[in-house]
Parts: sequence; C-alpha cells; structure tokens
Amino acid sequence: MNEKSLYERLGGYDGIDGFASNLLPRLQADPQLGRFWQNRGADGLAREKQLLIDYLCASAGGPMYYTGRDMKTSHKGMKISASDWTIFLGHAGATMDALGITAQERGEIAAFVSSLKADIVEA
Ligand code: HEM
Repeated sequence: MNEKSLYERLGGYDGIDGFASNLLPRLQADPQLGRFWQNRGADGLAREKQLLIDYLCASAGGPMYYTGRDMKTSHKGMKISASDWTIFLGHAGATMDALGITAQERGEIAAFVSSLKADIVEA
C-alpha cells in the first residue's frame, strides 16, 4: 500500500500544474469542445485554469483549499453531452500518456473523474 497521497505521487503542485497546462490547450483546440472556450478573455481563462489546478490539488490530497464552485454549479447550463464527455476522456488520456503517468495513478484519476460525470454531463 502506497502511503503517499495522489497529490504527492503526481508531483505536487508543479505536477498538477503541468497536467492542467497540458490538458487545457487540447480541450480548447478540439473541434467539438472548443465552443466551450470561444470568446473568453485571457484573464477569464487564466482564472479558470487556476481554479482547475486548485480543485485537482485539493481533491488529490494536497494542502489547498478550493474556493471555486462545485462541479454541478460551474457546468450547469453548458449542455455538456455524453459525446463531449467521451472526447474529454480521450484528451485526459492523451495528457496522462504525455506526462508518463503510470497505471496506479491513472486508475485513481479515472475513478475520480468518473465520479464527477453525473454532475457535469447534462445533455
Ligand atoms: C467535457 C468536459 C468539460 C467541459 C467541456 C468543461 C468546461 C468548463 C468551462 C467552459 C468552464 C468555465 C465556466 C465559467 O467560467 O463559467 C469550466 C469550469 C470548471 N471546470 Fe470544467 N469542463 C469539463 C469537465 C471538467 C472536469 C472533469 C473537471 C474536474 C476534474 C472540471 C473542473 C472545472 C473547474 C474546477 C472549473 C472552475 C469552477 C469555477 O469557476 O468556480 N471540468 N469547465
């Protein structure tokens, strides 16, 4: 049994910052998902990225207090579909490949992300 938190095993704050920095451009450049980030200002994008990093750090057992909104509130009304979700999972997998995240951590990340699906997918 590994006693280190997922946060520590992912490389702490810098590891999770690297994860978000790799994933977000993939989502924003995707032909189907790009619409969610169209016409957003640079400051809004930077703020949202920081909230994602804080949320992931806090959820993985890091010493952060997440000050953003919960997943249901922050995605409500975007009409994120099951098809959008499948594409999102593909990009998350590509990010994990790119960062060399190993099987144990991949499994924990996949289980965590799956637990959010019902709050995020609505159409
Ligand atoms: C298809 C999947 C997803 C799409 C299209 C999506 C899209 C978005 C967009 C456009 C925003 C900005 C909302 C705003 O500024 O009002 C947002 C916020 C956010 N998303 Fe997602 N998201 C997805 C999945 C996820 C997942 C799986 C997570 C967590 C692992 C997540 C975490 C967050 C967080 C923490 C915020 C900021 C909340 C806040 O503003 O208080 N999202 N998402």
